[in-house]
Amino acid sequence: MSGAISFRPMVAADLERVLQIENAAFSHPWSPGIFKDALTSYDCWVMFEGETQVGHGVIQVIIDEAHLLNITVHPHSQGKGFGLQLLEHLMQRATQLNAGECFLEVRASNQSAYRLYERYGFNEIGKRRDYYPAPGGREDALVMACTLFD
Ligand SMILES: CC(C)(COP(=O)(O)OP(=O)(O)OC[C@H]1O[C@@H](n2cnc3c(N)ncnc32)[C@H](O)[C@@H]1OP(=O)(O)O)[C@@H](O)C(=O)NCCC(=O)NCCS
Repeated sequence: MSGAISFRPMVAADLERVLQIENAAFSHPWSPGIFKDALTSYDCWVMFEGETQVGHGVIQVIIDEAHLLNITVHPHSQGKGFGLQLLEHLMQRATQLNAGECFLEVRASNQSAYRLYERYGFNEIGKRRDYYPAPGGREDALVMACTLFD
């Protein structure tokens, strides 16, 4: 399946597919309740390849500071540049909402996501020890930041 990439704001009717993608992509996925709260509180987007919903992302903007809370591409669609396009879209959106900087946390073991963030322009600025639940214990979060430009 291939087609043009497009984005639109997430609505409640998208959640069934969002949760399928989330559960397929993550060892510790967001729950339906977290997504329902996110829909009322944050800027939530879905990504399509042609007619097929292939990913989603969530940002929070507080005054001039953005936080990337979720970015997910269905495993079947990974490795084709969609993650970078989704990240670019979310950062454009953060800029529109007047953010000048974006922060995120990533699992120390999540090399694919870490490389994606570096490729976009994020730099590692710190570490939160034992931040995430992990099989058999906890895992550190790496904190990354990127300056956003208009
Ligand atoms: C992290 C994530 C969003 C990246 O999405 P993606 O669509 O695979 O991202 P991209 O395709 O842009 O980049 C991934 C890799 O594919 C490569 N790639 C991109 N386009 C390509 C193409 N046309 N042909 C071959 N390889 C390509 C990239 O160079 C990159 O390689 P690397 O991992 O060795 O650096 C995705 O892996 C995911 O959803 N993971 C699970 C959820 C997750 O961990 N989210 C982040 C939490 S912090």
